[in-house]
Amino acid sequence: MEELKNNIVNEKFYNIEEQRFWNNEQEWQSNGHEWSKLFGTTENLWNTQIFDKIKEFRGKKILEIAPGFGRITQFLSILAGELIVVDLNPTCIEKTKSKLNHHVLAYFVNDGKSLPKIRNNSQDLVFSYDSFVHMHANVIEEYLKEIHRVLKPGGQSFIHHSWLYGATDYSKQNVAGRSNMSPEEFKELVEKYDMEIVSQNLISFGLNINHLDCIIDNDINKQGKRLYGTDLKVFSPKILSKYKDPVVILKAGVYNQEIKKNIHENINSNVYLL
Ligand SMILES: C[S@@+](CC[C@H](N)C(=O)[O-])C[C@H]1O[C@@H](n2cnc3c(N)ncnc32)[C@H](O)[C@@H]1O
Repeated sequence: MEELKNNIVNEKFYNIEEQRFWNNEQEWQSNGHEWSKLFGTTENLWNTQIFDKIKEFRGKKILEIAPGFGRITQFLSILAGELIVVDLNPTCIEKTKSKLNHHVLAYFVNDGKSLPKIRNNSQDLVFSYDSFVHMHANVIEEYLKEIHRVLKPGGQSFIHHSWLYGATDYSKQNVAGRSNMSPEEFKELVEKYDMEIVSQNLISFGLNINHLDCIIDNDINKQGKRLYGTDLKVFSPKILSKYKDPVVILKAGVYNQEIKKNIHENINSNVYLL
């Protein structure tokens, strides 16, 4: 009994069961294109955020993890010489298959953390967009181990991951369904499996970062420092008292109302919150 208890306690947490809700077609209003709106269109998202970073893999072997309903897969299938897709949810694989058919070489449903059908040293690029952003760190770690195994020597990976600190283990409870993963932690995991980071950039939900002056955070340990991956410095909310009509983009999930009240009542009643 004691041994059983220890096994349960020591079992790693994976948010795989949580992510099975994507199997439900009702979660997909416009086959995923609804999430491209912040970039204008999916084509614009592909052109501005993805294409330049992976265009050197034209004609090569590409593996996409978690294609969903094939929103980005449609472009990858044109770029790749051979494209394979793997997703946890059968509905996603069926939808991608009905959209792209023989333009994708192989379609697999997996267990949400391994790539058993993919051979060692076989892929030039492993790609994933808008999916690792929802995966728990333990799931990401399993995939990084697998990515290292399936990539050819010198191969590369393009992984869109979350950039969120201090969130819960359950992504669905966090802002925008994001998982608790920082760029620093992601880099550590990548290096743990003998790979290296080529570059790490912030994709700011389509927002032009040049229009921002600074980041505001209550945490004194972050104030005075630069936000990782950007030139933006972090300040205390008190800085808002120095401006006449400042505009603040507030993205703090359940804390939004509390923060808004504090800013208006104690710092500057003219702050316009988006
Ligand atoms: C927000 S959708 C994004 C789909 C697609 N990449 C896109 O950009 O439109 C998230 C996708 O991740 C898949 N997914 C979530 N957790 C997964 C896991 N552990 N392993 C494989 N796929 C997973 C879901 O089935 C779903 O297809």
